Amino acid sequence: MKVLAILYDGGKAAQEEPRLLGTVENKLGIKEWLESQGHEYIVSSSKEGPDSDLQKHIVDAEVLITTPFHPGYVTRELIEKAKNLKICITAGVGSDHVDLNAAVEHRIQVLEVSGSNVTSVAEHVVMSILLLVRNFVPAHEMIERGDWTVSDVARNAFDVEGKVIGTIGAGRIGYRVLQRLKPFDPKELIYYDYAPLPAAAAESVGARRVEDLKDFVSQCDIVTVNCPLHEGTKGLVNAELLKHFKKGAWLVNTARGAICDKDAVAAALASSQLRGYAGDVWNVQPAPKDHVWRTMKNPLGGGNGMVPHYSGTTLDAQSRYANGTKSILENYLNNKPQEPQNVMVGIGKYETKAYGQR
Ligand code: NAI
Repeated sequence: MKVLAILYDGGKAAQEEPRLLGTVENKLGIKEWLESQGHEYIVSSSKEGPDSDLQKHIVDAEVLITTPFHPGYVTRELIEKAKNLKICITAGVGSDHVDLNAAVEHRIQVLEVSGSNVTSVAEHVVMSILLLVRNFVPAHEMIERGDWTVSDVARNAFDVEGKVIGTIGAGRIGYRVLQRLKPFDPKELIYYDYAPLPAAAAESVGARRVEDLKDFVSQCDIVTVNCPLHEGTKGLVNAELLKHFKKGAWLVNTARGAICDKDAVAAALASSQLRGYAGDVWNVQPAPKDHVWRTMKNPLGGGNGMVPHYSGTTLDAQSRYANGTKSILENYLNNKPQEPQNVMVGIGKYETKAYGQR
């Protein structure tokens, strides 16, 4: 069996830190195990263009492992070339880089390691909310420059306490964000999701569901995006929706870059409609050097909390998704049933409601 993995280059860091498992160098820690069973295991970061390893090896690979952090885009065209492909495994959470409809039609299963990095992301969301609301980045930059003008940073610094905070998507990550924010004593926690939270879960965090998205955003001081990218969420936060945000709201998106319209977000920040935008996800990845989100600022010179896609790839998370990838492979090799929560697309059908209402 041929297994192809598209991972990111870890370079010197991966040689020095073996716990960087999701890298080309450390190969998810499964090379010896797979090869000892006689399987061929190709690992590469080369994913773009007709001469890439992804294009070359997809032709006869039976298993494809990809990661959202360095997404190997599995387009319909690629799926049509993949005559031997039976299963795509996402080492992590979020399989939008795979054309899921094409996978359904071609009876290719798509699995991910559900839950493996949801706490890692939820912590990052809370951190991003705090750094935006408290105007942390400009304050730190001021210190690095050798300056000290408290009023210049305090003029745009607030408390999280007393704010209305809302999540678009209240699944594993969205719910954990709500749980972690409750002790900050927000004015209210609200959520927008076609799947309502179980009553006991909603009650335990005190979260109210708002069914209309415009109505929802108009109530929030802080919006966090925690839903998967699919046909129903691509460009969801666009110029039209941003008009309905409270003037000066903060927006955090660690879900997927393409859920927020790049130029509309930059324009909203420039016009002070948004006071800040933070996240780690970009459309496409790696983000081009001139991507406007790298450098955009609000008129006071702050409001940008962008980082590379790493919130869900802490060393703790890498250990969990590497182990999870191995157990999905073990089940596949031994014809054992998969954990139901890991199956996004089964043979010929969606097995999850998270990638859109169908
Ligand atoms: P989940 O499946 O537990 O929850 C997703 C929730 O979003 C579900 O409750 C679903 O009903 C809801 N949803 C789907 N479409 C929606 C829509 N149109 N409007 C409102 N809600 C909608 O998924 P989980 O584990 O919470 O992950 C969510 C997403 O976060 C992933 O799909 C992935 O894109 C992203 N993620 C990002 C990471 C990072 O490193 N930045 C790491 C892990 C996940």
